[in-house]
Amino acid sequence: MTSLTRPRPRLTSIPGIGYLEAARFVGAQIPPILAAGLREDRRITRASEAPAHVPRTLFDPTHPDAVASPHADYRMLRAQGVAVNEKLNVWMLSRYDHVSDAVRHPDIFSSAKGIFLRSVDVPNLITRDRPDHTRLRSVMTPHFHPKRLGDLADDIRQLADPAISRLAQGETVDFTRDLAIPLPISVIAQMLGVPTADWATFRGWSDHLANVFGPEDLASAVSFWADVFSSMVGLEAMVRREVARRTSEPTEDLFTAIEQAVAAGQLDRFEVFLYVMILIVAGNETTSNLLGMVADRLAADPELLERLRADRTLVPAFVEEMLRWGSPIQWVSRVTNEPYLVGETEIPAGSRVVLFLASANRDPERFQNPDRVDITRRNAGMLGFGAGPHFCLGAHLARLEVVTVVDHLLDNVSSLRAAGPVVWGTTPSLRGPTSVPVRLR
Ligand code: HEM
Repeated sequence: MTSLTRPRPRLTSIPGIGYLEAARFVGAQIPPILAAGLREDRRITRASEAPAHVPRTLFDPTHPDAVASPHADYRMLRAQGVAVNEKLNVWMLSRYDHVSDAVRHPDIFSSAKGIFLRSVDVPNLITRDRPDHTRLRSVMTPHFHPKRLGDLADDIRQLADPAISRLAQGETVDFTRDLAIPLPISVIAQMLGVPTADWATFRGWSDHLANVFGPEDLASAVSFWADVFSSMVGLEAMVRREVARRTSEPTEDLFTAIEQAVAAGQLDRFEVFLYVMILIVAGNETTSNLLGMVADRLAADPELLERLRADRTLVPAFVEEMLRWGSPIQWVSRVTNEPYLVGETEIPAGSRVVLFLASANRDPERFQNPDRVDITRRNAGMLGFGAGPHFCLGAHLARLEVVTVVDHLLDNVSSLRAAGPVVWGTTPSLRGPTSVPVRLR
């Protein structure tokens, strides 16, 4: 049985309740710039108006069963080609060629109304189209270039060191809690230039902000939006303070890069907070998820561990294959600016279209035996980091973090074994474990 045939067990979607209403409901203070953007857009073209020949699906990628185990559903979607879900009011593309074409045509497939199921108009990098997107992206591109990141491997090792040493003492530990979750946020805190004394508070805010990827209904919103919004208020104050300080005390960090971009008129001061927020949110749970999946796989496959130990040049290929196989971001969405033809089917202008990156990455038309982890596979074109102008800004950083951790593990650990059941996350659109108990020696 797939999630298509199961009723939604616990969460009740309440159509018409948007983020803004949820925030008011919990009495949250919302930064004004966000309040302007968190309105629902009710002008999305009705998917129910699709011609009768277009297959209908009940697949809901936010359904807890789909989040837990999506691949049987993706197979069915790929067989359908193009499908609509009338209840969610979305079109769905799941084949490699369709998804890849869509993300590479940003003038037709717009990100400006939000990249998940609800329409939002929050002006940050990931939800802007050209020309604003190009301007915003150019602020950070040089700072995430492999050359610029070159020196960071040592910092990453140092940040990972205490956890790996503890792990290497042979205790049973939770790889996710002790390393995969704290590492990415520490790395971004260091790159931004967050004062060390504020790291713990910064990490707390980041954990709450990760919930913006969370379930999209009021029932669950009530429990977390209060935390999310109060974290935004705290973070906004810190960002304002730190960026202002860089005016007289510039350094090499990203807060300085942001201050200089504001001074040069490249970045509006109202855009600063959302810029920092997207750096935190986009690179946090995603990288933790990949690290967790990597540890889970190494614990399950001792031969693989030995193979990597024998030939370290295989580590990057292993990480790339885990990105394809695991797809930490499972899907994104776009809204069409104009009608778009997929085969014989025309998707009308103004339609929300869900693009299943994870399904594209397991499309047998593109990758042979796609459900197998094969570190010798040619992975060019895999969509784990997306493609086109919104291709992950932090791709090199994420690769560097995961490769460095695997290398560091191989240096310090002779064996890695599963030490309990792996618990998988429940955040719709993301995929990865929240607990990977392991024993290392
Ligand atoms: C394994 C870890 C990661 C995965 C799987 C991942 C995946 C992705 C994907 C699929 C997109 C494209 C979204 C779209 O097309 O709408 C994206 C965009 C983005 N990612 Fe990552 N990401 C990861 C790590 C990071 C890190 C470490 C950062 C660093 C700060 C980061 C920052 C961003 C930003 C800022 C964007 C928006 C880029 C734009 O719109 O131009 N990501 N990421």
